[in-house]
Amino acid sequence: MLITNIKGLVGLHPKDKLVLRGNELSDLPVLENAWLLIEDGLIKDFGEMSSIPSQISNFPSQVSAKGRYVFPSWCDSHTHIVFAASREEEFAMKIQGKSYEEIAAAGGGILNSARKLQKATEDELFQSAAQRLKQMILQGTGAVEIKSGYGLTTESEIKMLRVIRRLKDQFPIPIKATFLAAHAFPAEFKNNHQGYIDLIVNDMLPLIAAEKLADYIDVFCEKGFFSVEETDQVLKAGARYGLKPKIHANQLSVSGAIAVAVENGAISVDHLEESNEETIATLKNADTIVTLLPSCSFYLGIPFADAKGFIKAGLPMALATDYNPGSTPSGNMNFVISLACIKMKMFPEQAINGATLNGAAAMELSKDYGSIAVGKKANLLITKPMPSIAYLPYSFGESQVDQVILNGEIYNG
Ligand code: NIG
Ligand code: FE
Repeated sequence: MLITNIKGLVGLHPKDKLVLRGNELSDLPVLENAWLLIEDGLIKDFGEMSSIPSQISNFPSQVSAKGRYVFPSWCDSHTHIVFAASREEEFAMKIQGKSYEEIAAAGGGILNSARKLQKATEDELFQSAAQRLKQMILQGTGAVEIKSGYGLTTESEIKMLRVIRRLKDQFPIPIKATFLAAHAFPAEFKNNHQGYIDLIVNDMLPLIAAEKLADYIDVFCEKGFFSVEETDQVLKAGARYGLKPKIHANQLSVSGAIAVAVENGAISVDHLEESNEETIATLKNADTIVTLLPSCSFYLGIPFADAKGFIKAGLPMALATDYNPGSTPSGNMNFVISLACIKMKMFPEQAINGATLNGAAAMELSKDYGSIAVGKKANLLITKPMPSIAYLPYSFGESQVDQVILNGEIYNG
């Protein structure tokens, strides 16, 4: 496929640039009035229209992108899209002013989703998750991470991970699976935390490793959920099976979550709506990526993360949706990018880099995804005609994504 007359070809980072730290996030290289050639699902070449080689300009399969921009697909590195049912009953409680913790304590929250998921069949879960994933892809997402964590029993955690495996087999995008049994303590383990951790370590992990069902391990390290010591135990057990951590940290309060994640070699720490100087100091000497989830802040009404502070400190920062039925019932990366600009005061260039190359890095996929470079996968989106790149986050709530290309082919769902 040859795409011609592209108003702006966005995200032309050198192929060996695998992650952007601090000020590097402000640099979003763009080629104006460009062409792009795709062969065998890969980016074969690109250049300016004024100097398009004649053998290329006669290429049989051409798409004109006049007035439109071409971006690398969004890379959404934090989602929980396998769930049995939505939770509007909690929406009303939230509107009445109940906090996330209060709803969870009243039997809502993660345990509410777990009760429903335990009753659902693998097929039912696959069908609904596939619908969600299809919608996300049509909104521009071309690589995704998906977590377990609504099973909370050996059987149901494995059921969730098998659903993710089926999604991997059936969708034309890369998918990473994260094992998150340490999402909440089931009611029967309320007063026996060690009992549940033993179940994760001795029962679940060996089975999951034997079936190779997970790429990463995650823990919800938070007051009322998993303590720092409990998190450490789970991460160390995961490491024995080669699972690297991506952890839920500092969502509702500052804890030692960041330190324990960094010590255990976490690929990313996610959320960080709460942070302080120590948080930044701990991350400064690490390669761990800070993944921010502004649509979670928006929905829960909790603070937005200090994106500017993290960037100023030179940290690598990524953006993701956190799509889940409790804190973020949306998988729309376009809205995440808008919120990053509007609420976290990121510049469009920073937000777009965070949603592409750094999102790919947070899934260890940035060698092949997340920017436009010769030899990388042709997972792209073509916008509607737009006056500028900034128009994409500026026009919040309205999708500017017109066409989605995955492995060099147009995706219609
Ligand atoms: O990332 N914080 C923990 N997990 C999810 C919410 C899960 C839920 O409420 O179902 C999150 O926000
Ligand atoms: Fe999450």
